[in-house]
Amino acid sequence: MKYIKKQAYLLLIIFQLVYLSCKPVQTNELPTLHEAYQSYFRMGVAVSPGALEGEESQLIRQHFQSMTAENVMKMGPIHPEEDRYNWEPADRIVDFARTHDFFLRGHALCWHNQVPDWLFKPDSILSKEELLTRLNDHITTVVSRYKQDIYAWDVVNEAISDREDEFYRESKWFKICDSTYIAKAFEYAHRADPDAELYYNDYSVINPVKRKKIYSLLRGFKDSGVPVDGIGIQGHWSIESPSETQLRETLSLFADLDLKIQITELDISIYPNAESKVVEPGTVSFNRLMEKQADQYEMIFRVLREYKDAVTAVTFWNISDRHSWLDNFPVRGRKNYPLLFNEKLLPKEAYLSVVDFNNQVSKP
Ligand code: G3I
Repeated sequence: MKYIKKQAYLLLIIFQLVYLSCKPVQTNELPTLHEAYQSYFRMGVAVSPGALEGEESQLIRQHFQSMTAENVMKMGPIHPEEDRYNWEPADRIVDFARTHDFFLRGHALCWHNQVPDWLFKPDSILSKEELLTRLNDHITTVVSRYKQDIYAWDVVNEAISDREDEFYRESKWFKICDSTYIAKAFEYAHRADPDAELYYNDYSVINPVKRKKIYSLLRGFKDSGVPVDGIGIQGHWSIESPSETQLRETLSLFADLDLKIQITELDISIYPNAESKVVEPGTVSFNRLMEKQADQYEMIFRVLREYKDAVTAVTFWNISDRHSWLDNFPVRGRKNYPLLFNEKLLPKEAYLSVVDFNNQVSKP
């Protein structure tokens, strides 16, 4: 069986080589990502405007039907000065989405990172009221502009602390506004576009301690009528984590709260932690890691398919192993290979494990 799978994988690579050299090939063997998942959830990808014009553009159109701006809609890049917005890069993504009929997620309206220099100034005398006014102006302007194009927003990103003894992250937002800025951000976004789906987005949601805090925040929002529609589980995972049990527990918890669930930033690092040694492609160790990664992807998507009533989209954080934010995190310059397509933009073993869940390809 394993031999047959390997052969199928080789066939797949040959097919892709022919396909990428622009010869139309008729094959019923292998669906694209969004074809394979059309009766489950939307398949998305995080992009920069440049990627939409380069070689990866064809891959994006072939496999995905949803996109997220990796950086250009964040507050720093899109609103660099108090009275100036930098729309052009974000507009390029919106134009591509319109032209090619993509769903668009907005990322992110309120975060402690990638904020513009002017936002928290002047230091020490900026009042809570003034900061909330700035937040309201920002959210109202950005959400209104993209009302026709963006169906879902990550409204607040990473507001919960990683520390066991702390509930909220001690960001400048929190220090100046206490936790009220979180609910306010949702209210401002809802007012600007009552039809948009609004998400709270965070990482380490599978960690039971952090998960409990996020649950309690969102349960409180639901109980008090704060307009939150869903949870964004980022999904920066690895070949060793999450376990199937952790993933199931997490999905069940938020599905029971009647929230939409989206996996918003999926990648599977081949390095379990910052201490893991660099592994070079072409080595036996690397090939083993690729197999482990394929198994981890298989498990994750098998479980996600089971929760298809709650899970509405899965977005990969970057397109191919050609470039990933993990190439520089948590270790600068340690190249990672976390996605479904390799540096030549060809599908990896992990791709097969995600799309071939009916074992069509491996059938003799
Ligand atoms: O645009 C500037 C460029 O002008 C400058 O010359 C260059 C020099 O370093 O930096 C460029 O900015 C970089 C930016 O990505 C765009 O490429 C920043 O340095 C770099 O820090 C930034 O990294 C982004 C990171 O968020 C910032 O925290 C990653 O691309 C992006 O993938 C990552 O995404 C986050 C999500 O938004 C939230 N969840 C976690 C996820 C991973 O950190």
